[in-house]
This record gives sequence, structure tokens and C-alpha cells, in this order.
Amino acid sequence: MDFVRYHFETIDSTNTWAKQNVHKFEKDKITIISAEEQTAGRGRFTRRWESPKGLNVYTTFAFYLEKYSSLIGNIPQVLAMSAVEALAELGFIVKLKWPNDLMIQDEKLGGVLCETTAIDNGLFVIAGIGINVNMPQELLQKIDRPATSLLKAGGSLYSIEKVIENLQKYFVRNLEILKLRGFKAFHDAYQRDLMYRIGDPLSFNDFRTIWEGFFHSIKEDGSLNLKLPSGEIKNFLSGEIF
Ligand code: BTN
Repeated sequence: MDFVRYHFETIDSTNTWAKQNVHKFEKDKITIISAEEQTAGRGRFTRRWESPKGLNVYTTFAFYLEKYSSLIGNIPQVLAMSAVEALAELGFIVKLKWPNDLMIQDEKLGGVLCETTAIDNGLFVIAGIGINVNMPQELLQKIDRPATSLLKAGGSLYSIEKVIENLQKYFVRNLEILKLRGFKAFHDAYQRDLMYRIGDPLSFNDFRTIWEGFFHSIKEDGSLNLKLPSGEIKNFLSGEIF
């Protein structure tokens, strides 16, 4: 699929800008919005996303979906998997924390924030990704949870544009596969990319209750199966492992 790219030196948030400008986007193209810095970068669960100038990837992929609405929940997972492939090309082994956090060891390298806007009979999907590329340790330490960057993990500086280029290459291809074959085409690779193995202890917050249990599996639809100490398998569509 063809794409159109917008690049900004400074923006509040590439996702916010995409939501505000969705009417300008072509339905048969992927619109890619990137920025050198975000002054109001947003993370999941209304968190702030640290977005200092010229150091990291802040990119949003916006595209129209007329149908396939059952796949919406899998788009962020497929974007995160595309980042795993994009970064493998640069020599990094990046793992996923369900559903779509990018991790190196136990530290967060990046994340995905996926939003939608209804237009006509379909939806514009606004899938934003942040990847810490050249963020030094002094800035990583200011983030309120353990964070890493390619610089920290690899010991040298990396081209932000190369990361975006790789990401685009894999995501455009994977999105076509998702539309044609659904998440089942990704399920096994997704499970392999995860940072947990079957039986690993997990604490899970579904924003009502904190559940203690063990990683059981990922269902065909990408949701998480947690095994509770009672032996019951509990399925979650959203929430956060911590
Ligand atoms: C998370 O909380 O893990 C998701 C982080 C998503 C950050 C990206 S950076 C580009 C896009 N614009 C935003 O404001 N957020 C996303």
C-alpha cells in the first residue's frame, strides 16, 4: 500500500495530530506521522511518554479500515511484532510484554498506543509507537519505571530514520497479512516473541483487581490466559502485567 509521510520538528503528539487531521488522510494510503520531539507525548492509560528532541522514534501509522473490525485489538500487537523484526535487523533481541510493550531484558524500550476515529462506515486506526533509540542513561533514569534505549543496550548511536524505515517495511507487510489471514497468522511468532514462558509467575492488573497467577498461553485472538493458583484459567482482553 502507498504511503504519505508528514514529519515535524516539534509536535504535541503524533497521535493527537493524527486524530485532529484524520479528514485530510487518504483512505487508500497509510499516513505516517513522525516527529523529532513531542511536547505532550502520550502513553497507554493516560500516562505521559517522555519524548526529548532528536533522540527517539515517535511515529504514528494512520490508515482506514472499512471492515476487519474484530482485528482492531490485534493491530498494536502486530505493530509491536513489526518493531521486533525491525530491530532484529539492527542486531537487537527485543521481547514483548503482553500486549504490546517492547522490552530488552526487564526494561522497557518502547510501546504502542493505538486509537481509532470513526469516519463514514469505517474507522481510521491511529497506531503510534515510541522507541527509545539514542536516549542516554541520565534521561532514562527520569522515567518512573525501568527503561532502556538502543544506545544503552547496544553501546552506540543508531539512526532513527533507519528504525522508522525498517518499521514501515515490516508493518506495511504485516498489516496486509493481518487483513488477509487474521491474528492466527501471527499467533505462534507472537508467543515466541514474548518475554514469558509457560508457568512464569505474573501479577496482572485489569484495573479492577490485581490477579496473581502464572503465564498459561496466548489465545488465538491474542488475548492473555492466566492460570490462577486454583487452577482456573482466566482470560483477559486488556490490562497490564507488572
Ligand atoms: C505506552 O504507554 O507504552 C505507549 C507509548 C506510545 C508512545 C508513542 S510516541 C508516538 C505516539 N504519539 C504519542 O503521543 N504516543 C505514541
